[in-house]
Amino acid sequence: MSEHEHGHNPNPDPALYRREPVSFVRRGDRMTTRRQLSWDRSRAAYILDVPRHRADTSVAPDATLTPDDLERIYGRTAPLVVDVGPGLGESTVAGATAHPDWNFLAVEVYTPGLGALLVEIEDQELSNIRGVQANAPEVLERLLPPASVQEIWVFFPDPWHKTKHHKRRLISPAFADRAAQALVPGGILRLATDWSGYAVHMRQVMEAHPEFTNLHPGRAAGEESPLTRVRLEERELEVGAQPLRKAKPSAVSPDGTPLPAQPRAGLREAAQASTLEDPVDHEGGWAPRFATRPLTSFESKAERAGRLIFDLAYQRS
Ligand SMILES: C[S@@+](CC[C@H](N)C(=O)[O-])C[C@H]1O[C@@H](n2cnc3c(N)ncnc32)[C@H](O)[C@@H]1O
Repeated sequence: MSEHEHGHNPNPDPALYRREPVSFVRRGDRMTTRRQLSWDRSRAAYILDVPRHRADTSVAPDATLTPDDLERIYGRTAPLVVDVGPGLGESTVAGATAHPDWNFLAVEVYTPGLGALLVEIEDQELSNIRGVQANAPEVLERLLPPASVQEIWVFFPDPWHKTKHHKRRLISPAFADRAAQALVPGGILRLATDWSGYAVHMRQVMEAHPEFTNLHPGRAAGEESPLTRVRLEERELEVGAQPLRKAKPSAVSPDGTPLPAQPRAGLREAAQASTLEDPVDHEGGWAPRFATRPLTSFESKAERAGRLIFDLAYQRS
């Protein structure tokens, strides 16, 4: 049964069909006229047709491409960059323009995003980009041949702020395993986020993985660290569009002393940032901004809200 065949809801929760929760919720598929035209015209040429396993963003277990398939798909053999969740595809297009000698695969579940990518492919006559509408972990694990990818980019993945939703975060030990499987030895995983809680989580996951090494160990530690600045300057005053207010007394202990209110569930992690005993990030390891990563609407919004950006880069051994 495909996602769209499930009951009366055209966009049911794709997690229902999978062992693991997915990192996305299906959004509407409605497109602007321009995107729809490009989608209708160029989809067959640039968006991979993938055998599915139940859900329509899934990848069938036996769908693995061979290196020859990749050569046929791109019309050549070249280093492959996989851009995971590129949204409207700005980072894929920027990369493909800067590196015409590399092949790019945009892995995105959002149809209008892939429509926007096709508009750019047509307008700029880009021949080195393909897209696939599928769940990224399944693409890395099932679709791509092992050791076939030069770089994996994951820029501004959905942060899933609430503690009960952390299991939906894309970056996890299982994701790191799949990235390690897909990358060539020496290949690179590049990450970026504008949320300090997710940045710390990404760094923990990647530092713990035996097959990855930080390309910038210890860089931007202490006062230089964006994490230190976020904490000391209390920059993340809003989490998931909800204001993170200072705790107000809301209860009284038996002796009449007011007790501090607990932050609402889901905001606790962020609240900890400003109440840590030592807010200085002594570890660092943050990468410089990756050269071709463009300023997307997600990053602009983060900047306007005063948040800082965390980049990480890890090399597969
Ligand atoms: C917050 S947006 C960031 C978009 C873009 N990378 C940028 O920096 O502007 C996250 C994107 O990842 C996509 N996404 C989330 N989980 C995904 C998954 N498991 N597989 C493929 N795409 C996913 C979403 O549809 C969304 O477009």
